[in-house]
Amino acid sequence: MPSKQKSLLSRSSRGSRHEARRPVWAEVSLGALAHNLAAIQKYVNPPEEKRKSPRKILSIVKGNGYGHGGPQVAKALENAGSDWFGVTCTDEGIAVREAGVRRPILVLTGFVAGEQARLLKYDLTPAVHRCDQLPLLERAAARRGSKPASFHLKVDSGMNRLGIASSDVDCFARQLGKCKHLKLTGIFSHFASSEVFTDTTAGKQTQEQEERFYAALDRLRALGIDPGIVHLANSAAIVSRPETWANMVRPGALLYGYHPGYDPAEKREEAEKLLPLKPVMSLRTKIIHLRRVPAGAGVGYDATFVPKRPSLIGVLAAGYGDGIHRSLGNRGSVLLRGKLAPIVGIISMDVTMIDVTDIEGVEVGDVATIYGTDASGNVILANRVARSIGTVTSDLLCAVSQRVERVYVR
Ligand SMILES: Cc1ncc(COP(=O)(O)O)c(C=O)c1O
Repeated sequence: MPSKQKSLLSRSSRGSRHEARRPVWAEVSLGALAHNLAAIQKYVNPPEEKRKSPRKILSIVKGNGYGHGGPQVAKALENAGSDWFGVTCTDEGIAVREAGVRRPILVLTGFVAGEQARLLKYDLTPAVHRCDQLPLLERAAARRGSKPASFHLKVDSGMNRLGIASSDVDCFARQLGKCKHLKLTGIFSHFASSEVFTDTTAGKQTQEQEERFYAALDRLRALGIDPGIVHLANSAAIVSRPETWANMVRPGALLYGYHPGYDPAEKREEAEKLLPLKPVMSLRTKIIHLRRVPAGAGVGYDATFVPKRPSLIGVLAAGYGDGIHRSLGNRGSVLLRGKLAPIVGIISMDVTMIDVTDIEGVEVGDVATIYGTDASGNVILANRVARSIGTVTSDLLCAVSQRVERVYVR
C-alpha cells in the first residue's frame, strides 16, 4: 500500500482529519471494494461449471476509478485478487503503474499516434481498434526490441463506436502477419445496452452483438490466429447474462457497489438479490451555517425556493464544483442526523442549502452524507439518486471533483 494511502487511513481512524480544512470529503471503503470484487469473482465462477482455471476479472478503474481514485483503488483491488485492470488512456495507465500495480493494464480506448513508446515503456496493453494502428505499434515494439508487445483487439459488434468491423478480420489478420514484434493476447467487444430487456431495438441488441462478435472470433481462429483472452461482459451482462462471461469479465459499476439501471426497472431488484453489493463511496460535507428564513423569502440563486413557513436552512460546504449534481436542486435530499433533509434552491458551485426545519438538534458542524452510508448505517444509494435525475451512477461518481479529498478507510 502506498505510504500516502497508509497515512490517510491512520489519520481518518483518529477522526481528526477534517478539523482544519474545508469540510468536503469522499470516504472510500476499501473493505466494501474488496467485498464487491470477491462477490463478483464468486458469482462468475459457479462451482457446477468445474472450470480448470477461474474466470478472470478485469477491474475497470478508468475515470479516476469512477471517481474513487484510480491508482488507489487499483492497488487495493490488486491486493484483493483482481487479475487485470482497465483504464481509458496511457496517462491513466501510467498513474496506475506508478501506484505499484504489477498485473496487466488494458488501455481500453487505445493510443493516439506518438504515444506508443510511453505505452510500452510502462508495460501497458493497448486495445487496437483500427488496422492502421498495427504498423505504428509494430515499429515502437521493434525499437524496444525485447519480448513481443502484447495487445488486445477490439471488435465493433454493433455499438458503432470503436473497434474493427467483423468484415475487417481478414485484413487485420494479414496486417498482423507482418508484425513480428506484436502478440495478440486478447479480443473483446463492448455492449451498448446489456441492461435493456425490453422488446425494442436496444433490447435485441446484446444478442446481435454477441453473434457478430463470435462470428469475428470464429473467423480469426479459422485463419489460424489464437485470440488469447476473450472478454465482453460489463456490469449488467455480468449479473444478468451469464452466456456472455467468456473467460474474463469487466465490471465497473458493480465494483463500486452499484447495479446499473435496468429496463424494465424491476430487474434491478432481481439483480440486487442475486449479487448483493456494498456502496464504496460516501460523499460527505458539513453544515457551515444555519439561517432562519421567514415564510415568503427566496433562498439561493433566482429564489427558486420560497418557503411557505418560517424555516431553518442549513448551508453545506459543497456544491456542484465538488460534484453535487446541479439538477438535484429542489429535488434531492441528504442524510443528516439519520433523516432525509431536502436540498432547497439552486445548487451553487461551492455551497448547497438544505431545509432542516424538521430535524431536531441541528448544529453547525453536523455531517451530511450526499450519497453512501452515514455513521449509523443509513444509506442514500447513488444509483437511486442518479435515476431520479435521469442520469447514470457513474456520472455522479465520476463528477466528484479533484478538490474533494479521498479518504481511504477499511
Ligand atoms: C470497455 C468497457 N468495459 C467495461 C466497462 C464497465 O462498464 P460498467 O460500469 O457498466 O460495468 C466500461 C465502462 O464504460 C467500458 O468502457
